[in-house]
Amino acid sequence: MLHVDSLVLTVTDPDTGQSTEILHGNSFALGAGESLGLVGESGSGKSMTLKCILGIEPSGARVTGSIALDGTDLLSAGGEELRRIRANDLALIAQNPHGSLNPVLPVGRFLVEGMSDARSLPAAEARTRAAELLRQVGITDTERVLRSYPHQLSGGMLQRVVIAGAMSGEPKLLLADEPTTALDVTTQAEVVAILDEKRREHGLSMIYVTHDLDLAAAVCDRLAVMKDGEILEIGTPEEIRDRPKTDYTRALMSARPQLYPEGSPEPALGGNTPALGGDAHANTEDRA
Ligand SMILES: Nc1ncnc2c1ncn2[C@@H]1O[C@H](COP(=O)(O)OP(=O)(O)OP(=O)(O)O)[C@@H](O)[C@H]1O
Ligand SMILES: [Mg+2]
Repeated sequence: MLHVDSLVLTVTDPDTGQSTEILHGNSFALGAGESLGLVGESGSGKSMTLKCILGIEPSGARVTGSIALDGTDLLSAGGEELRRIRANDLALIAQNPHGSLNPVLPVGRFLVEGMSDARSLPAAEARTRAAELLRQVGITDTERVLRSYPHQLSGGMLQRVVIAGAMSGEPKLLLADEPTTALDVTTQAEVVAILDEKRREHGLSMIYVTHDLDLAAAVCDRLAVMKDGEILEIGTPEEIRDRPKTDYTRALMSARPQLYPEGSPEPALGGNTPALGGDAHANTEDRA
C-alpha cells in the first residue's frame, strides 16, 4: 500500500544557505489495513515524515528517495495527479483540531465542504450526510454541533468532527499526528477508540505518531522507533517491548510513566475483607 524508500529530507536556511539533513534515508512499508506507530522523542522527525508523505514539508526543503502509494510515487507525481491523491486517498488528523477547522465557519460547513461529492449533492442531502458522519463518531446532538462554531465545542468534540471530516473523503491512509495529546485522559481514550473503530471498519491503513509507547502498542500492529531523523528499528509491539534492539529503545521504554515501577510491589489498599461464609455482619460489629 505505502512503500517509503530511502527518504531523505534536507532543509536549507534561505539566509545563511546552510543545509541540514533532517531525515536520513528512512525506509518502511505499510500494508493495506495495517497501522504503524511512529514513536520517538521530540525532534526525532516523526511529524516531518508525515509532512513528506503529505507533500507539506517546509519551504526550502528537498525530499529524495521514494514514497509510493499503491504504486504511484508521490515525489515524482505531477500537480493534478498529486492533488487528486492527496484529496482522495490521504487524510491528516493533527494534534490541535482548531488548526484543521476554520474558526469563522460553523463545523457543518466544514464537513459539507470537505465532502468530495458535495458539489453534486443538494444542500439538504449534504447536511444529512454530515449529520450521519457525526453520528458515526459518537455525536448524538448532531444539529447543535453542525450549527456550532469551533470555539463553542470542546477539544474532544472538535477532534471527533475532524475525524468525521477525514472519513468523509473515504481515504486509504490515515496520518494521525499526536491526535489525542491535547485532550484530557478520558476524552483521549474515547477518541483513540473511535479512530481505531473507524480504521478497522473501513480497512484503512494508518500511521500513528505519538510520544506514548503504551498507546502506540495498543493501537498499532507495528512500531517504528525514531531518533534524530533515523528509524532505528521496526517491530511488533511485543518485539519492541520484550526484545528491544537498541539502547535508545530500552531507554524510551524505561522513560515511560508507570503507575507501579517494574519490580515494585503493588501498594496494598487498606480495608477489611468480610470473611467468606462467615457472619455477614462480622465487620460491622463496631457500629452495632
Ligand atoms: N520548519 C522547519 N524548518 C526546518 N527544520 C525544522 C522545521 N520544523 C522542524 N524542523 C526540525 O526537524 C526536526 C524534526 O522535527 P519534527 O517536527 O519532525 O519532530 P517530531 O518528532 O515530530 O517532534 P515532536 O514530538 O516534538 O512533535 C527537528 O530537528 C526540528 O528542529
Ligand atoms: Mg511532531
